[in-house]
Amino acid sequence: MSKHRAAGPGRAVLVPGGPGGESPAGDPGADLVVDARDLTLRFGGVTSLDGVTLRHHRGEILAVIGPNGAGKTSLFNCLTGAYKPQQGSVAFSPEPGRSHSIVGKTPHSITKLGVARTFQNIRLFPALSALENVQIGVEMRQRYGSIGAILGTPRMRREERSGVEKSIELLELVGLRHRVHELSASLPYGEQRRLEIARALGTGPKLLLLDEPAAGTNPSEKLELAELIRTIAGTGVSVLLIEHDMRLVMSVAANVTVLNFGRVIAHGTPAEVQRDPAVVEAYLGTQDDDSVGESDAPAGDLVGNGGTGRDQH
Ligand SMILES: Nc1ncnc2c1ncn2[C@@H]1O[C@H](COP(=O)(O)OP(=O)(O)OP(=O)(O)O)[C@@H](O)[C@H]1O
Ligand SMILES: [Mg+2]
Repeated sequence: MSKHRAAGPGRAVLVPGGPGGESPAGDPGADLVVDARDLTLRFGGVTSLDGVTLRHHRGEILAVIGPNGAGKTSLFNCLTGAYKPQQGSVAFSPEPGRSHSIVGKTPHSITKLGVARTFQNIRLFPALSALENVQIGVEMRQRYGSIGAILGTPRMRREERSGVEKSIELLELVGLRHRVHELSASLPYGEQRRLEIARALGTGPKLLLLDEPAAGTNPSEKLELAELIRTIAGTGVSVLLIEHDMRLVMSVAANVTVLNFGRVIAHGTPAEVQRDPAVVEAYLGTQDDDSVGESDAPAGDLVGNGGTGRDQH
């Protein structure tokens, strides 16, 4: 397991405040979809991210875990342009050989580059149907402009048709084909989470960020979700997954980056991070008396709440 970050080819720097122990830099020639370095984000006196480095290999399902308030959503917000870190860099590479600096770009332009996300607090248009919600995502990447929309040009009509077809395909992919015309607000919670994923996929991302997609879902929905995440990754989309449920993390993620108090405290395979003393301590230090306490449990919910009820961003 590495607790270091690369500071350029051939150099290694300790993660500030990390648990210590110097190790060589990760593979400098790695094909990374996200290369985020040294991200620091502050709100007044609160430091949400403190020198965070994240290396996400192309095609990988990478999980980000950590206790409540660790900075996971803040990290997503920096990767999607919702927050601008005071320090650090984010390189997003939609395909090998092409890389964009993300910091300072608007959320809209980052979406257009190929980054999509879902939210910890579901954000759907409740008064629109499932289909219409997905169409919003799909239309973001369609090319006709406002003039085409006003004039109703043939190209616009063609794109509208293909947008509907694409949206239905995505609803099928997430198992919601039968809900096409239902209002999103009327769907059960687990289905709303899957609808959000369909909407995010509508923008044609190369990188999909999922913020606690399993929160509030039942065990069979979690299994379906794991399958869906694997299917999405199988189509070549890199997936960055914030998740508290270690069973889900273990079943889908190749690697896990662990945050605590805004810092990376560990990175490795799910099995490695689960037995890392710094990770165990971070969770034990925050858990309630009745939450999961077996640090050596092979799988389960490290946090013990399967999601959060906190204010979310
Ligand atoms: N917009 C904001 N204004 C002020 N503080 C913020 C803001 N966004 C995040 N924070 C603070 O940054 C810290 C990290 O929050 P963040 O939401 O990123 O944690 P998290 O790991 O996603 O937690 P959870 O598991 O509860 O969702 C917290 O102390 C939070 O209160
Ligand atoms: Mg969060």
